Amino acid sequence: MHLPDLEIAKKREKKENKYIELKEKYPKVFTGKKYFLRTYGCQMNVHDSEAISNYLEVLGFKKTDEIEQADIIVLNTCAIRENAKDKVTGFLGKCHYLKKNHPNVKIVIAGCMSEQPDVIKEIMNKHKYIDIVIGTHNLHELPKLLIESFDKQTIEVYSESDEVIEGIKYKRDSKITAWVNIMYGCDKFCTYCIVPYTRGRERSRKLESIIKEVEDLKNKGYKEVTLLGQNVNAYGKDIGESFSHLLECVAKTNIERIRFVTSHPWNFTDEMIDVISKYKNIMPYIHLPLQSGSNNILKRMNRRYTKEEYFELFKKMKEKIPNVSITTDIIVGFPGESEDDFNETLDMVKKCEFDGAYTFIYSPREGTPAAKMEDNTPMKVKEERLYKLNELVNYYSNLSNNKLLNKVVEVLILDKSEKDKDKLYGYTDTMKLVNVKGDKNIIGKIVKVKITEAKSFSLDGEYVKEEIAN
Ligand code: 5AD
Ligand code: SF4
Repeated sequence: MHLPDLEIAKKREKKENKYIELKEKYPKVFTGKKYFLRTYGCQMNVHDSEAISNYLEVLGFKKTDEIEQADIIVLNTCAIRENAKDKVTGFLGKCHYLKKNHPNVKIVIAGCMSEQPDVIKEIMNKHKYIDIVIGTHNLHELPKLLIESFDKQTIEVYSESDEVIEGIKYKRDSKITAWVNIMYGCDKFCTYCIVPYTRGRERSRKLESIIKEVEDLKNKGYKEVTLLGQNVNAYGKDIGESFSHLLECVAKTNIERIRFVTSHPWNFTDEMIDVISKYKNIMPYIHLPLQSGSNNILKRMNRRYTKEEYFELFKKMKEKIPNVSITTDIIVGFPGESEDDFNETLDMVKKCEFDGAYTFIYSPREGTPAAKMEDNTPMKVKEERLYKLNELVNYYSNLSNNKLLNKVVEVLILDKSEKDKDKLYGYTDTMKLVNVKGDKNIIGKIVKVKITEAKSFSLDGEYVKEEIAN
């Protein structure tokens, strides 16, 4: 049995503006070949996949949704919970079968799982046919690796990086809304979370580069940008900038809609709240992960706030930002979570009446502090807690959706609905999904819609008026 050497290069030099002008450097050597790309996980990964698509297309590959037709299969992986890993390993079983029938097809693993050396070793051991493993810090090397190593197995993963690559090009999935990275990595080290290990330390992009990117998008006709970071409020700490200043500068580009994810309650400042309430083009929507409503658990999670501090911030946002909608993330079954701790989480949900929440059962991640904590709660109890929490969360999201019944709201129409061919879909300023009856010429426009039905996870509505004059 031969296992390839794990070459984990540690590169710490600060290199800026290092983006390789792909078109000049690499010819379209793969013209006529097709790629299949599957993305797992968060918005950061979705956006990284837009960069991967661009790299591949510059090299001549064309996209295919038929995996059997692909010459290269790229899995952009996620490591946040065990079930994310399970999905990837399940899919690799399918790749194994394909590889048997088409030995020339190349399999590439990218994303957060690549940054977990033990996991990669285990996967490579089991799936020896994988051709390339590339990490989150050196994704920009994909074209070089593909050209140099198309016929040999290559693992190229930087274990960490303080680089910030500017000017990355993307093949964006939408012509209406766009993700814009403002920073990479996370320094918060919540004890359950793998992200600081797979995505590295907080590194901010230059303010001018971000503004230029937003202006370019606006000039191309984009209506909405979402500023992306694991913890956007930490933006600028490493370069003498601040998120509130960035947000204000982005607002002044006059792009029609601005969103941002994700916010950490710990460093969400009054200035940020002021800027959000001051500019009409910053959407009144904040995703503010709570994680737990018990101070004991929050401390063990290293979340850096108490439930009282969270609620103070929450109230301030509600008071100062008209019509703001706030959603959250909650983990149940963290090691040592007692029934009382869990009930405190339910109490917080009742107090905050969140517009929506993503809920998870705690999943131990090897190498994180929480994975070593004693955990005596049986899985059955954790599942019951999740069920109970979801019932409460759904009750409040229903309540918040029902408040919009018969109201006229502004919706940015994105596309035809996949479920109902006669309908279009879009989002309100408060990030509520609306299925709309209307002609497809309103796609890409912000229009007035009357809400006719409220469901738990979406709204139905009818188009009532022309594009909003901006
Ligand atoms: N187990 C369960 N949920 C987790 N999250 C992050 N790490 C874990 C884990 N180990 C959740 C958090 C975070 C969201 C993106 O995923 O709630 O906010
Ligand atoms: Fe993970 Fe905490 Fe950073 Fe969010 S803030 S990415 S939960 S370490």
